[in-house]
Amino acid sequence: MSASSDYERHREILKNSLDKPHVARIYDYYLQGESPNNWVIDRDFAERMLQILPEARTFAVANRGFLRRAVRYLRAQGIRQFVDIGSGLPSAGAVHEIADEIGTDSHVVYVDNDPVALAHGQILLADTADPDRHHALGGNFFDTETLWQRIIDSGYIDPHEPVALLLVALLHFMPPTSVPTPTEALAFYRSILPRGSALVLTHATDEGTTDRLKEVAAQYVRVATSPVHLRPHAEVKDLFGDFELVDPGVVWTPQWKPELAGENEQPYSGDPAATLAVCGVGIKR
Ligand SMILES: C[S@@+](CC[C@H](N)C(=O)[O-])C[C@H]1O[C@@H](n2cnc3c(N)ncnc32)[C@H](O)[C@@H]1O
Repeated sequence: MSASSDYERHREILKNSLDKPHVARIYDYYLQGESPNNWVIDRDFAERMLQILPEARTFAVANRGFLRRAVRYLRAQGIRQFVDIGSGLPSAGAVHEIADEIGTDSHVVYVDNDPVALAHGQILLADTADPDRHHALGGNFFDTETLWQRIIDSGYIDPHEPVALLLVALLHFMPPTSVPTPTEALAFYRSILPRGSALVLTHATDEGTTDRLKEVAAQYVRVATSPVHLRPHAEVKDLFGDFELVDPGVVWTPQWKPELAGENEQPYSGDPAATLAVCGVGIKR
């Protein structure tokens, strides 16, 4: 299919996606306010959530800040391959842009199961990415073997070299009742990654927060395209299995290596628990 017919197909998908607020676009609104990537239906829902839980914006900004610092850290450790599942919209400061800060030898594959996020992603990448090194594909985290094979078949990732698997603000959309369970699916990815690979994740947690977060989670279940399932800190730590946690371990998102923030990134000075999410980076030894 030609680039222009791809583009038309994506525009068509976006035009037909206005019946429900979309989690990736709601997140985009929390992150940067009104933008060409979010639509009225997303903004109305996001504003309602911000009324209940103003920290939702803090969550998104701190979450993306962690993602950028983790990519910088792993690039400095020599990792050149990134697979970002649940990538959402690769807007300003996305993985490929950060990975390229220290050289143009990295490869990034973005994966999202939402055709709307994928359509936005492919349109954004057409403007900012290098098609020889950066790629977006539609795929579901739960498809484990099939998805991994498709990622390898895309030709962008060498399965024998270390890979950073990014599951950032993804797993809290996965209730434990899914088949396979999120833990089983994650165990597959941990087992298939070669030694020296990294697992990077953030997860919304119900620890230290109030009923307001639970109310927002319930609204996502009722109205948005993905339900939210919160997990306590200890359960998030278990998601790393036997991967070795990089210091400082599983912490609130602003507490993970704040010294790696970019020059234009504001340091976070509020209560870390107000970011609602914990994060970590684990290495397969
Ligand atoms: C809040 S966005 C996170 C964006 C990005 N990872 C970040 O943290 O900046 C979550 C994304 O996960 C995607 N998602 C939810 N369930 C998924 C699944 N089973 N497989 C792949 N993507 C999924 C949603 O479509 C959405 O785009």
